[in-house]
Amino acid sequence: MKVKVLGSSAGGGFPQWNCNCRNCDGVRKGTLAAQRRTQSSIAVSVDGVAWLLVNASPDILAQIAANPEMQPARHTRDTGIAAVLLMDAQIDHVTGLLMLRENSAPLPLYATDAVWQDLSTGFPIVSILSHYCGVERRLIDLDAGPCEIAALPGVRIEALPLSSKAPPYSPHRAAPQRGDNIGLLITAPGSGKRVFYAPGLGVLEPPVRDAMRSADLLLVDGTVWTSDEMIALGLSKKTAADMGHLAQTGPGGMIEVLDSLDRPNQRKVLIHINNTNPILIDDGPERRVLAQHGIEVAHDGMLFQL
Ligand code: MLT
Ligand code: MN
Ligand code: ZN
Repeated sequence: MKVKVLGSSAGGGFPQWNCNCRNCDGVRKGTLAAQRRTQSSIAVSVDGVAWLLVNASPDILAQIAANPEMQPARHTRDTGIAAVLLMDAQIDHVTGLLMLRENSAPLPLYATDAVWQDLSTGFPIVSILSHYCGVERRLIDLDAGPCEIAALPGVRIEALPLSSKAPPYSPHRAAPQRGDNIGLLITAPGSGKRVFYAPGLGVLEPPVRDAMRSADLLLVDGTVWTSDEMIALGLSKKTAADMGHLAQTGPGGMIEVLDSLDRPNQRKVLIHINNTNPILIDDGPERRVLAQHGIEVAHDGMLFQL
């Protein structure tokens, strides 16, 4: 099974269009050892032809262009994207659906009931798409156990509810619902190897820790280095927790969590990295700290074979 990182950045991308923070300015001017990154998405495939797109990022068109395997060119109109699965209803994870509107058939779309609700109310993208290719509703039932997706024969997909945040436009932003955010535990056919993917991970409840412990590859929330990162830079009033994310440093932070898992040969990779995060600087001290803890930083185009 192949897992490809299409976009390793958080919402806004890196550099973010209107941002002149040290990172964004430095990567734009080429004065910083850092790579540009597009917004949050991965793709999973067994045969390298049919792909499950996990999150449809606003940068999807650039991501398809950067990953030629997503365009197998078997017909005049064609795509390697066989289905789409959403982790939440956030702009950085769903807006790309609008860019896929020319699809030749309704797009099979997997999401929880809470996300389906948001996409029919606060952000009615499903009704908009009904005027184009439309979507085929595939419900992720959190109580039904692991599921299989036609595009990925033999792959076991388990969705775990996460404590994070529904988007600001969600009717249940202030009253979180089970399924607003999910993490995915995906088991490869043959090898039985597992990847756990959670670009937004606010609080780690015991089932989430268990899933993380059972995975050979972790692709987890790398949004911010410090909880008050955006506040300290004067860019936001929100802490990491207010945004439904877990900072890397501090007590109970992601570094501590990853250290505690204690699974030999597990690859630990941070993904969904906000443009303010100092770990984006390839030769910075924060990167050395991560390296000491055996933690990697995802970049666009990163490929894992499980
Ligand atoms: C988030 O996960 O908090 C988002 O990246 C925010 C956004 O897309 O604006
Ligand atoms: Mn996001
Ligand atoms: Zn920035």
